[in-house]
Amino acid sequence: MRVILLGPQGAGKGTQAHRIAQQTGAKHISTGDIVRAEIKSGSELGQKVQDYNDRGELVPDEIIVEMAKPYLTGADSWLLDGFPRNESQARALDAALKELGIELDKVIALEAPDDDLVKRLSGRRTSDSTGKIYHVEHDPPPENSDEDPGPFVQRKDDTEDAIRRRLEIYHDQTEPLKDYYAERGLLATVDATQEISKVTDDVLKAVGETA
Ligand code: AP5
Repeated sequence: MRVILLGPQGAGKGTQAHRIAQQTGAKHISTGDIVRAEIKSGSELGQKVQDYNDRGELVPDEIIVEMAKPYLTGADSWLLDGFPRNESQARALDAALKELGIELDKVIALEAPDDDLVKRLSGRRTSDSTGKIYHVEHDPPPENSDEDPGPFVQRKDDTEDAIRRRLEIYHDQTEPLKDYYAERGLLATVDATQEISKVTDDVLKAVGETA
């Protein structure tokens, strides 16, 4: 399985990639997680990308492409979450896959209206120990610490200003990628307003895995 998950911020790319990776053994490659891990480590690269991340701006293409590339060869089966995000990144990905002799199977666009997304993101909590994503109402963190010890933290870019900026960038730069992949017969869309497990079933069906 070599799949790209496209979708606006809060559509559930990370939530779905995590669930599908667990169910199928595919690797979940999130450029957002890679960026946050660099920031957390305090590396030179992390310091370079922190300001972009916190303001909700895209990290420059040349930096993100170099960060993402090594992960493509690490596993036979993967789900890309948050990459590519514009046409320049999509072309860089095409070139990298061609060089590696790898074919993309499917691009899944998760669709939900902006108003729902803002509500979802303000209730998001992420486990600092497991990386699992929760929502205070729709998918609350477990009370039993054996299941997930947490702590359950709010992301720095989940402020109202940064959320609005990320959605603006999505509509302007990332959404046109739906046409880019549809023209190549790779696109499938999934209604991401459904409950989390139903979205997972639909994504699995779209990529040809039994739900
Ligand atoms: P990234 O981490 O990719 O953030 P994002 O694109 O803003 O996407 P999100 O993680 O916010 O949304 P999601 O769709 O994964 O939603 P989630 O599953 O968490 O990127 C962060 C930053 O890194 C960027 O701003 C940029 O600076 C940099 N970056 C990353 N990639 C880059 C690139 N390619 N180029 C340049 N820069 C890059 O779900 C959200 C909430 O909703 C959760 O609380 C969840 O529990 C809940 N939820 C999910 N599904 C449902 C459902 N069906 N019903 C109810 N609630 C649900």
